[in-house]
Amino acid sequence: MSTDSSIDFDSVDYFTDPSLVPDPHPYYDHIRAKDPVACPIHNGVLAVTGWEAANAVYRDSENFSSCVAVMGPFTPLPFTPEGDDITEQIAKHRTEIPMFEHMVTMDPPEHTNARSILTKLLTPKRLKENEDFMWRLADRHIDEFINDGRCEFLAAYAKPFSLLVVADLLGVPEEDHEDFREAFGAQRPGTNIGSLDHELIVTNPLEWADEKFIRYIEERRKNPRNDVLTSIATAKYPDGSTPDVIDVVRTATFLFAAGQETTAKLLGAALRVLSDRPDIQQRLREDRSLIPVFIEECLRMDAPVKSVFRMARKTTKLGDHPVPAGTTVMVSPGAANRDPARFDNPHEFDLDRKNVREHIAFSRGIHSCPGAPLARVEGRVSIERLLDRLGDINVDEEKHGPRDARRYEYEPTFILRGLKELHITFTPLG
Ligand code: HEM
Repeated sequence: MSTDSSIDFDSVDYFTDPSLVPDPHPYYDHIRAKDPVACPIHNGVLAVTGWEAANAVYRDSENFSSCVAVMGPFTPLPFTPEGDDITEQIAKHRTEIPMFEHMVTMDPPEHTNARSILTKLLTPKRLKENEDFMWRLADRHIDEFINDGRCEFLAAYAKPFSLLVVADLLGVPEEDHEDFREAFGAQRPGTNIGSLDHELIVTNPLEWADEKFIRYIEERRKNPRNDVLTSIATAKYPDGSTPDVIDVVRTATFLFAAGQETTAKLLGAALRVLSDRPDIQQRLREDRSLIPVFIEECLRMDAPVKSVFRMARKTTKLGDHPVPAGTTVMVSPGAANRDPARFDNPHEFDLDRKNVREHIAFSRGIHSCPGAPLARVEGRVSIERLLDRLGDINVDEEKHGPRDARRYEYEPTFILRGLKELHITFTPLG
């Protein structure tokens, strides 16, 4: 990755400046060197880029609310924070805050309820069945492109794979999987969208999924079956009460939002390393037991979620910085994962890194990612089958340039980090 020393990081706007998209790390290094605990940046935001400090904020749900978790300073707040404790103000206006219906922006006790439904879904038995499905799914996708000797990996594999894993986790019947693939724009290579003659040309896939799940859940509540959708439909809150259909549906469909793009980005990052680093590819081919560590190091180096936000709901302190109630704090897994105070040679991809699992790509505390075990298995299964079936995986130099001058484009967002495309070539092995 190149470091552009001509950029004046003190004036650059992290949230809008496209020059930070290809590689945000020189910027993170700059603000971390100024203050890893709380560095003021644009839009009145305090940036937390140190590993220690990021952990502390994640674990402090008493002083920090998640109401702005996703959009940070761009969350249109329906109130002006007043005084040293805005807990009441947040509670009063909660339903006017965008994305209030999703658990990632909730605080206890609503968060505890929403998460309890999810915990019932992610049982060891369900995860095991889901893994069995992943092995079959990996092969199905590889079958679609293996004979070409090349592919654009995100469209051909990472996106449809991560989408259908969530669909299977939620018990979507396999005969509906193609509908989900088309609705989420992850259809088979070569499919002509214009030829689809039904409702599947959708503008908002999550709304489409909400409607689909309302039908599934209502039907299962009327006619319970022995399936996953029935166990979701009949799950109860910890106090024994039955959630409204819409609340169950949102818990379920939010998994598509939370679990698809993030995992697709992880898979893209992992394949970029494999194709760019023949030495690492060779070590993994020779010793498959290194694959889990490889995935962890990909998560550390290229955390798919770059920034997560909190709002101080009580006047508090970060280090020596006063943090008035109402302040937006950006806690950056991307930056914290390369904190030199925690990780030696943080910018180096190191398969032998002892403390690699200390990365915080999945955040920490009450909102820490419940899909982490799933994402890890998705990574492992995918790499296993790709190594089994594709020999000599390389970056397609026609598309990304030669080894010493690679050109990669990343999605232009301050929230996520991921390649727009990854073209690879390989030798089909079978
Ligand atoms: C590599 C893949 C993934 C990454 C890097 C990732 C990252 C994260 C992060 C950083 C958060 C915490 C946000 C916060 O603290 O405010 C989060 C929350 C969440 N993730 Fe993931 N995630 C991944 C995959 C998944 C998958 C596969 C699922 C489920 C199928 C999932 C479901 C969720 C849910 C439901 C939340 C909200 C949890 C809560 O608010 O309590 N994620 N994820």
